[in-house]
Amino acid sequence: MKQEQHGEAVTTRLDALIHGQPSERVPELVKAVLIDSLQQGTLTLPKAMCMPVEGSYARRLLHRDPSGQYTVVVMTWGPGQKTALHDHAGIWCVECVVDGNMEVAQYDLTSEDNGHFHFEQRSRVVAGRGSAGCLIPPFEYHTLGNAAETPSVTLHVYGGEMDHCHVFEPLEDGSYRRVRKDLAYCNS
Ligand SMILES: [Fe+2]
Repeated sequence: MKQEQHGEAVTTRLDALIHGQPSERVPELVKAVLIDSLQQGTLTLPKAMCMPVEGSYARRLLHRDPSGQYTVVVMTWGPGQKTALHDHAGIWCVECVVDGNMEVAQYDLTSEDNGHFHFEQRSRVVAGRGSAGCLIPPFEYHTLGNAAETPSVTLHVYGGEMDHCHVFEPLEDGSYRRVRKDLAYCNS
């Protein structure tokens, strides 16, 4: 199967709903499409997009909507690979586990003073294949990490193209400082 054919069924469904729905309904509908596509076996990914990379999780572009309303990104996580606490730069996102197990922790931003950000962990779950969740600003702070001994694969639909985010680095006093992080796609 050619690379562009992978994920084609799901992007056809995403086109229809993202271009045709009031925006506030979109994330929940995208989530339902991803769960259904995985259950029906219509969401297939090229093997090359699921290969882990040494040193960091891999982020690869599967589809970019020509009108710029959404992108679909595949991430592959080797054992132990995880993100820092981060935001989504104000862009909604739906994330779905395609293979393996992921630990997902959601955080609430409780206060900010003079560049010191304070968070409380709201939830932490281990999510397996077929699990999906929405991240909708302002509730957009989380960590993701591979909770398996083998590579895990996740699929992310963003309401635009997320070319940067902010990571939050822990400080000694228990607060965090915010640092901009530019995001790129892995070409291998
Ligand atoms: Fe994220």
